[in-house]
Amino acid sequence: MLSSINSRAIVPVACAVTGFVIACCVLLFTFVKEDLIRGEIHHAVDLADTVIKSTRYAMLHDDRETLSNIISSIGDQNQVEHVRIFNKKGLIMFSREQGELDKFIDKSAAGCNECHAEEKPKGSLGTMAQARQFTNKDGKDVLAITAPIYNEPECSNAACHFHTSEQSLLGTLDIGVSQDPLKQTLGQLQNRMIVFSGMILILTVGAVCALLYRQVFLPIKQLADFTETPVNGRLGEEFPDVSGDIARLARSFQEMTNRVHELETKASAKPDDDS
Ligand code: HEC
Repeated sequence: MLSSINSRAIVPVACAVTGFVIACCVLLFTFVKEDLIRGEIHHAVDLADTVIKSTRYAMLHDDRETLSNIISSIGDQNQVEHVRIFNKKGLIMFSREQGELDKFIDKSAAGCNECHAEEKPKGSLGTMAQARQFTNKDGKDVLAITAPIYNEPECSNAACHFHTSEQSLLGTLDIGVSQDPLKQTLGQLQNRMIVFSGMILILTVGAVCALLYRQVFLPIKQLADFTETPVNGRLGEEFPDVSGDIARLARSFQEMTNRVHELETKASAKPDDDS
């Protein structure tokens, strides 16, 4: 009986706790992942901003050699997968990969179509809309940012330059950073959460088993032992060490057997009464 109560009580509790812990972990992991990706996007947008600011001086002076140097040194950085500057027409003016210089990119390409989806191109993009994630041709997951390079009074006034003040956008910067560190962090987090859920499971199932055993199974077993061993038709004097409802049950069982015993002795003392 105990083993069936055991399994009937513990299996559902274990299943419920397991399900709950797994659901909580999955939810927590999704939230943490979203937060980390959002943080990564903010970092990448800041990086793009820094690149645009650091190239500003060279752009104003139309110093293409310095610009090209800046772009290739940024491109040489560890996590940077690609960095290119497009002019307004979609021509790659500067890039880390020398091979893709002077190539045309269509405005329907990823990174351009966020602004060019409609007839009239958007003048600016929100932080999140600037980001796109994809796997590049080397099989690496990349987070890329397309940042607009705006026209400024200095640009249209610069003696060397041909930009007119009507142009709002001079070009775009496209920079891609590797997602490997983020994936590594997420992998670590996932493993830790699995270990953590395992620990919670063992702890809760262990605690529930111990509590059930101490509070329910042991008193029931004591009660069963107590009721199963009547001495001469009477229950033993040794009352089980139980409390609450189980004690009430034991007491009424004891009273009942005592009453039965009394009736039996009365009946055997006067055998002829009935006739
Ligand atoms: C931040 C938003 C934005 C992004 C990103 C962007 N553009 Fe544009 N683009 C514009 C705006 C705004 C204009 C109009 C600018 C003006 O007239 O000053 C424009 C103009 C153009 C034009 C000339 C006008 C036309 O519609 O034909 C071309 C070509 C073009 N973009 C191509 C591209 C390509 C290729 C990319 C991707 C590498 C790109 N754009 C990325 C906003 C963007």
